[in-house]
Amino acid sequence: MESVLTCSGCAATVNVDDRGDPYPFRCPNFDAGDSASGDVDHVLVPAPVDLSDGFPTAGIEGRNPFEVFRRQLGSYRRARALGLSDGAYLEIVGRLDDRIAALDGKGFAVTPFYRSGAISDALGFDPAGGVWVKDETGNVSGSHKGRHLMGVMIHLLVSETAGLTDPARRPTLGIASCGNAALGAAVLARAAGWPLKVYVPTDADATVRDRVGDLGAEIVVCERQPGETGDPTLRRLLDGIDSGVLAFTCQGNLNALSIEGGSTLGFEIVASLVEGSMTADHVVVQVGGGALATATIRAFDGAVEAGLLGETPRIHTVQPAGAAPLARAYTKLRMLAGDHPSRRDIELHAARAARQRSEYMWPWEHPASVASGIIDDETYDWLAVVKAMMKTGGTAIVASEGELLGAHAAAHAAGFPASPTGSAGLAGVAKLVREATIGASDRVVVLVTGAERG
Ligand SMILES: Cc1ncc(COP(=O)(O)O)c(C=O)c1O
Ligand SMILES: [Zn+2]
Repeated sequence: MESVLTCSGCAATVNVDDRGDPYPFRCPNFDAGDSASGDVDHVLVPAPVDLSDGFPTAGIEGRNPFEVFRRQLGSYRRARALGLSDGAYLEIVGRLDDRIAALDGKGFAVTPFYRSGAISDALGFDPAGGVWVKDETGNVSGSHKGRHLMGVMIHLLVSETAGLTDPARRPTLGIASCGNAALGAAVLARAAGWPLKVYVPTDADATVRDRVGDLGAEIVVCERQPGETGDPTLRRLLDGIDSGVLAFTCQGNLNALSIEGGSTLGFEIVASLVEGSMTADHVVVQVGGGALATATIRAFDGAVEAGLLGETPRIHTVQPAGAAPLARAYTKLRMLAGDHPSRRDIELHAARAARQRSEYMWPWEHPASVASGIIDDETYDWLAVVKAMMKTGGTAIVASEGELLGAHAAAHAAGFPASPTGSAGLAGVAKLVREATIGASDRVVVLVTGAERG
């Protein structure tokens, strides 16, 4: 099967398997700030994932998700199409993971997923229902972010092993972040021996900066230029990309390949649900740039398509009141589509929105929150998430600072050492329980995505 990426804005397609472009990251018509790209939402979207072929639903505990779910990864299909054997692919993943473990103390392994009695009881669930937590706090570099980047790094190494690129002339990788994504990128780049630039704001967290610097990445401090709007670190990254830096990001608009690595989180949940003969009624995800939600939705959609799950759970998102561009876009699109739109109407409205992006998505002014990992001023991967919420009757939850702090305390009380960003999904669950959108016997999946940094 070919791996094709399709732009949801202009319908351009990119075949990932051919030898032409070793870095098929962006829509060929994406050109930030160029009026030629108009108001089109150029985001390459991977083809739906096939979970009917070799998807493991048992015995995955403790194993490397990039090995056990390799048949669901475009990088694997690409490796095979380029002539690499199964063993050669496993060697790429295994060697990289060993070096990650040496740097970070652990490599990638399926993360815990279980019903939290403490959280379920605190929210008044009955024994049939409850809150199942996917706990990413112990993952590589302390969050789920490494998954996105591991997926990209495997692609880069597949290109090299297949002889498409020269290991002696590795382009510099770049990411705009001063949090979990920067830490993940620094570990991954160091493990693989790729040069990395990390674009950070002037007020970047010193602990993160130090760790990223210790891992050998170059830190580029980005001051806001007079009259400049939007995120200055992103602007500088885009300038870097224009001069040859490769986007090593957790944003699908800049690197579509980052979505599939993120989908391993959803694959793990699906595998656990199937193994336990369980279903989920709701999935609640905190959203910054939107790649995590997009990747998770993709895994659930694939599971439904393959008949592993009956239907996609209701997808709910959580953003802080101090930065809620996705909720703003969803409200607007839902108003246009009316109550209970058909699937066809949803597709039509989404297709129109993809060509009028700025009607729905524009930078949030002065984003701020205690959940500092999800204050992206725009949701880059927004359309797939909005569509999924519309199709499943989801809610775009906007959480107050008090609600986020309450969820943070509740997570710690239940034994999850999460940051306020990592526990933000729980603020959404609590709110939906209060509003009775979630009932006492409903089964809810929540992602606790990042650990508190000391
Ligand atoms: C811990 C944590 N959770 C969730 C998110 C949200 O992910 P995304 O930006 O893909 O929406 C982020 C980063 O943005 C994060 O650092
Ligand atoms: Zn496009």
